[in-house]
Amino acid sequence: MIQTTGKRICGVVLALSLILAAPMAVAAAKKTAAPSKPIPELVEKDGKFALMVDGAPFLILGGQANNSSNYPAALKNVWPAIKDLNANTLVMPVAWEQVEPVEGQFDFSFVDALITQARQNKVRLVILWFGTWKNTGPSYTPSWVKTDNKRFPRLTNKDGSLSYALSPLYETTREADKRAYVKMMEHIKAIDSSQRTVIMIQPQNEVGVYGAARDYSAKANGLMAQPVPQALLSRLNKNAGTWNEVFGKDADEFFHAWSIASYVDHIAAAGKAVYPLPTYMNAALKDPLNPDQAPGSYASGGPTYNVIEVYQAAAPNIDFVAPDLYSPGSQSYEATLAFYARKDNPLFVAESGNKPTYARFIFSVLGRQGIGFDPFGFDYSGYSNYPLGTTKTGPEMVKPFGELYSLFRPLERVWPKLSFESQVWGVSEPDDHSAQTLDLGPNWNARVTYRQWEFGMPEWDPDNKNGYPEGSDVPSGGVAVAKLSDNEFLVAGYHARISFGAGEANKARGFILDRVEEGHYDARGNWVFERVWNGDQTDYGLNFAQARLFKVRLATFEK
Ligand code: DGJ
Repeated sequence: MIQTTGKRICGVVLALSLILAAPMAVAAAKKTAAPSKPIPELVEKDGKFALMVDGAPFLILGGQANNSSNYPAALKNVWPAIKDLNANTLVMPVAWEQVEPVEGQFDFSFVDALITQARQNKVRLVILWFGTWKNTGPSYTPSWVKTDNKRFPRLTNKDGSLSYALSPLYETTREADKRAYVKMMEHIKAIDSSQRTVIMIQPQNEVGVYGAARDYSAKANGLMAQPVPQALLSRLNKNAGTWNEVFGKDADEFFHAWSIASYVDHIAAAGKAVYPLPTYMNAALKDPLNPDQAPGSYASGGPTYNVIEVYQAAAPNIDFVAPDLYSPGSQSYEATLAFYARKDNPLFVAESGNKPTYARFIFSVLGRQGIGFDPFGFDYSGYSNYPLGTTKTGPEMVKPFGELYSLFRPLERVWPKLSFESQVWGVSEPDDHSAQTLDLGPNWNARVTYRQWEFGMPEWDPDNKNGYPEGSDVPSGGVAVAKLSDNEFLVAGYHARISFGAGEANKARGFILDRVEEGHYDARGNWVFERVWNGDQTDYGLNFAQARLFKVRLATFEK
């Protein structure tokens, strides 16, 4: 009773003070605070995805800084590269070791500097949490974690030796990581809820383990003998049993994937409870062309293509999984894209090499309705991760990517809306430069060819006397097409030729390019006409000797 009365009294006093304070508070708010923009979110409709930023679809044209650029003093070498790249998003790590060097004492000064400077540079941020896992190892955990194997145990290899990687089976490790991660999310919420500079979070980086398929400790072996959780059985439509009974030869890897995904999900859930930004996990890849590759020779337990469903079942708070693409061959690159672009998983290239030949793959990513592309190693710190990436470290490194981003940056809102609401296609030049066909529905199709001069046909110069056009010595081309209406398409390309034609439904009729407009989109997303292309410029297909954007209207006539 006394408590209730006391509450009531407090309630009355509180209500009175709110009534008195309200007009003043509203007036102050009108003067100072800009209205909050909606929090970024990932939306899905009929198996298509859009990353909503400020309430509208947004295409991430990202650049990821080198690992050790995550200090205020290093940022001055990051922004010029991001500017030259024409990126709209910087992807940057924040490390557990830097925010909690002493247990329980937090320092978010780098996050403050990063967000302030991102706003000055007019770009968004994706933050990578380097915690329990960074390239599978614990190197970014604070000293008090990475040196204390009793409290934060490493996993046990099959032969009984100790692995370098931390085990996902210990609450002590998970709770310590979670506390720091949640603190970071609280900090981001406190300083970024109105401007939404940070649009997405990657909790952990390249999880998994090399050299083992799972933890083989007594604790892990005990858990392996338990029944497989129902959520996973339901997701994979399997009958009950222990891990070995249900998954046979895949049991070790699936168990490890489940354990890591559950661990990260627990952390991500706590972060989302504070500030629900979209989250994703990146994968160090399993060879997409070799299904027999043994777990442990790649990062076992990470979100490789063969365990995507395990991640979906174990980690509902992770919105999607994303590949780190450093496989130079177009066949392998495309195979990985195909594995990750699913109706239940949007495609986002979380990392890609920064050799010039990787730039063209943005066309394939867009054609597969990708929500973003994020090549790795973009800052002017002077560091090169050759042979994974390019030997170059300055503007020369950035240029091939910057040229393509300059084509798509004005489309950062237009393209993802079309991708979400209409239909898109896209192809990148294969290693062998072979032609590709785009099936644009029953009425139209298109053929994309490479290494063509802007005028005429290759057979006019059978000896290829002048070689190939500049820049096409290595594969560099691609085309992306979006449907604007039944007969009209937006076409963006580079180092390629696209030739449209009649589809099955129009076979009996004559085909003609009705109108080809070159132009661009203004800041409000309106098409700005520049000129009509016709004559020599269209008689041999539309040629992209440089990055260009067209609106193309197709027509037929009675024969
Ligand atoms: C993948 C990792 O996720 C990145 O942080 C980086 O280490 C690259 N590999 C290699 O440069």
